[in-house]
Amino acid sequence: MKGVILAGGLGTRLYPLTHVTNKHLLPVYNKPMIFYPIQTLVNAGITEILIVTSGPHVGDFLGVLKNGKELGVSHLEYAYQEKPDGGIADALALAEDFADNDAIAVILGDNTTDADISSAVSSFIEGSVIFLKEVDDPKRFGVAYLDPVDKKTVVKIIEKPKDGLSNQAITGLYLFDRNVFNQIRKCDPDWAGRGELEITQVADFYLQEGKLKSEELKGFWSDAGTFDSLFQASSFWATKK
Ligand code: G1P
Repeated sequence: MKGVILAGGLGTRLYPLTHVTNKHLLPVYNKPMIFYPIQTLVNAGITEILIVTSGPHVGDFLGVLKNGKELGVSHLEYAYQEKPDGGIADALALAEDFADNDAIAVILGDNTTDADISSAVSSFIEGSVIFLKEVDDPKRFGVAYLDPVDKKTVVKIIEKPKDGLSNQAITGLYLFDRNVFNQIRKCDPDWAGRGELEITQVADFYLQEGKLKSEELKGFWSDAGTFDSLFQASSFWATKK
């Protein structure tokens, strides 16, 4: 399996910090944010990694990551998303040549976790796996609604739900088989009303085909795209032994 880290966008919620550099290079405690998703992939045995980025500071990545060797990456590639506001699935579409018909593990570059996804990676065969985490503020995320009896079965997924009926956030970690790029071609930018191609809609296509599995993400997880979540992530990593 290969790894893709999505590290584009303008990071407008973190202005003025993101006038200085790309959001994913801002510090989370003592490391640039993107080191954490790279480490999650490398710890799961995935060392061929593509970083998709966009926006005014793309050149900064090379200076920080170089060829990735210092982080245990055997092969590092970069791709440039022309529309920084095209959406997560639009960014992922750029990984098609890199994936070369292999399955991919995808992590949003502002997600940090100490969870070990290596068994999900090594047992992955086909379809898609999403990793869920119980949260207090589900309206901020993509959310999965689980079968009340069989709590591993996802019955519905919604991006930024208004109802608050499920607190199972879809974290920014996903496993996809090679069909993901065909699924992205079916995405509708109006699906969640944001004018973006949504990765949650890609997962929804797998759900409709009966090929979506969910796993609980065990351990700490936070995104870091707002000042509060950036602070929360930094505080966790500062105190983790
Ligand atoms: C994105 C995804 C959302 C997911 C979240 C995790 O949200 O669209 O489904 O729960 O990342 O960080 P966004 O950061 O685009 O609001």
